[in-house]
Amino acid sequence: MVGAVLELDVGAPGHGGFCVARHDGRAVFVRHALPGERVRAAVTEQRRSYLRADAVEVTRASPDRVTPPCRYAGPGRCGGCDWQHVRLDAQRRLKATVVAEQLRRLAGLDVEVVVEPVSGSSDGLGWRTRVAFAVRPDGVVGLRRHRSHAVQPVGRCLIASPGVEAVGAERVRWPGVAAVEVIASAGAGERAVIVTPRRRGRIAVPVSDPELAVSFTPLPGSRRRSRPARAGVHEVAAGRRWQVSGTGFWQVHPGAADVLVEAVAQMLQPRPGETAIDLYSGVGLFAAVLARHVGPAGSVVAVEAAASAVADARHNLADLPQVQVRRGRVDAAAVDRWRPAADLVVLDPPRSGAGPTLVAALAGLRPRAVAYVACDPAALARDVAAFAAADYRLSRLRAFDLFPMTAHVECVALLAPDGPR
Ligand SMILES: C[S@@+](CC[C@H](N)C(=O)[O-])C[C@H]1O[C@@H](n2cnc3c(N)ncnc32)[C@H](O)[C@@H]1O
Repeated sequence: MVGAVLELDVGAPGHGGFCVARHDGRAVFVRHALPGERVRAAVTEQRRSYLRADAVEVTRASPDRVTPPCRYAGPGRCGGCDWQHVRLDAQRRLKATVVAEQLRRLAGLDVEVVVEPVSGSSDGLGWRTRVAFAVRPDGVVGLRRHRSHAVQPVGRCLIASPGVEAVGAERVRWPGVAAVEVIASAGAGERAVIVTPRRRGRIAVPVSDPELAVSFTPLPGSRRRSRPARAGVHEVAAGRRWQVSGTGFWQVHPGAADVLVEAVAQMLQPRPGETAIDLYSGVGLFAAVLARHVGPAGSVVAVEAAASAVADARHNLADLPQVQVRRGRVDAAAVDRWRPAADLVVLDPPRSGAGPTLVAALAGLRPRAVAYVACDPAALARDVAAFAAADYRLSRLRAFDLFPMTAHVECVALLAPDGPR
């Protein structure tokens, strides 16, 4: 069946940058299409219960369809963007539909979702301040094709920020290199590249820029494995300057950090003297904002697993004695062991979400409010269901378009206890 071309009437968007059609009773996940379109789609993958396909011809186009600004977007090409062929406002409606559908299906909730635009990119391009490029064995740089290890060479990535593009990593060859991450901080205007070599030996870095910080990730098995890559940048957000080393986590959209801290503070309404925990705290972004609100009479515990992020957080938050940064894995056992006092919780897990045992342990602390920052709406919906089982209900949801042109969307959810605390 792979390679067959099907005539399809395309339906609603699904979670992952496709729309759903049906063929012979089977679901078909169609990329490069839009709801309401009729397309001819080439099957790219066959599974027992569904097919994947790429729309290769549109016979009835949606009014939301546009010509993709990027020449590398399209069937069989770069897998980085899913919605280049869609008007920006319609992209946000597609994402809102997906978030609402995940909450309905996985948490049994009917929620009206609006995906808010974020300033910093009015045309959906030029926003990505961190880009991880893949490198072919011949040194040519590009981005991965969809669901593939194959590299699509790109002369320029249109969603990359001007600072990333100024490095020009895509326009030179990188022999002996497996991957190059280019970082360009938005506020501080600094640039760094982090190079992953293929093998031991000297690597000549083919871009020259006196302002560029360069570092190498250790090869697997090397004795330097546990040392974090050093080169990094400073970022500016929430009225503060942040040190972010190596590949340490920082939101990639220049408007993201400010918009998220504002949403979290607005939902939690932290009060002077309260206790708070910031789980999956990265370099300390939310801990700083919580600390400012709870003041010197309150306290904040930030927990993060990555050593370099913990070191950055301790540096970044050194002027806030009410914050304690702990290095460790966030899990139910750790929460049960510490039983930290928590009026408030910020929960910002990786894509896999928090999971039901951690959610139950957190609910056991009986915080008056939990702000959940989610990069995956399915994980969010599963965790919202777990909170509901522990008598915490979803009382507010905001969603932000922090990843224009892609199917990704960031949500901030407020969970509060049912009834008196
Ligand atoms: C989505 S980032 C959030 C970072 C931070 N809240 C921010 O907004 O900048 C998730 C963070 O969780 C950390 N992490 C992932 N799994 C973890 C775990 N099991 N325990 C503790 N930290 C973890 C990662 O290193 C990363 O810094």
